[in-house]
Amino acid sequence: SVEERIARVEELIGTHSDFPKPGINFKDIFPVMKNAEVFQDCISLLTEHVEHLTTPVDAIVGLDARGFIFGPLMAQRLNIPFIPVRKAGKLPGETIKYSYQLEYGSDTFEIQKSAVHCRQRVVIVDDLLATGGTMKAAAMLLKSLGAEVVECMVVIELTSLKGRDKVPAPLYSMIQYH
Ligand code: PRP
Ligand code: MG
Repeated sequence: SVEERIARVEELIGTHSDFPKPGINFKDIFPVMKNAEVFQDCISLLTEHVEHLTTPVDAIVGLDARGFIFGPLMAQRLNIPFIPVRKAGKLPGETIKYSYQLEYGSDTFEIQKSAVHCRQRVVIVDDLLATGGTMKAAAMLLKSLGAEVVECMVVIELTSLKGRDKVPAPLYSMIQYH
């Protein structure tokens, strides 16, 4: 079943207390990738979720850096374009930027204006949702270029931080931790 397949992904997610700072319980997605079969099935689960959406999806958007692990693989399976959102200063040509708060300080996301068509229906993917600031910034960039954000997807949601309340689009998470 889908639940059993998700449980096999969850079993491989690492937990590290007090990383990168005291008090933070870090969830590590990389051990999933050491198991080729489970990693492939994780991509299948994400892809199947997109295929089951009632709105057809024109492109997958992935977030620098760990969203780049999932987004291109999903886009290839779905045979649709992949669009990168990057940390500022990495993309050439005409771009727009959106700054967001981190626990300490801030960061800026950037997208090429030519990456998206008006009314293009996109799904945004990242590895993890914590405070939601990262996903919100990405969704705001896509919306300001006229895209329709059909859904935001993450493998892991840290529910106690209530990040989903910040995200200006429907949010799907495969695995939840309090
Ligand atoms: C991590 C994670 C998410 C984000 C979630 O990215 O990959 O993108 O934090 O946090 P938030 O919901 O509180 O905004 P980070 O920028 O730390 O590193 P990365 O470049 O390795 O993806
Ligand atoms: Mg990230």
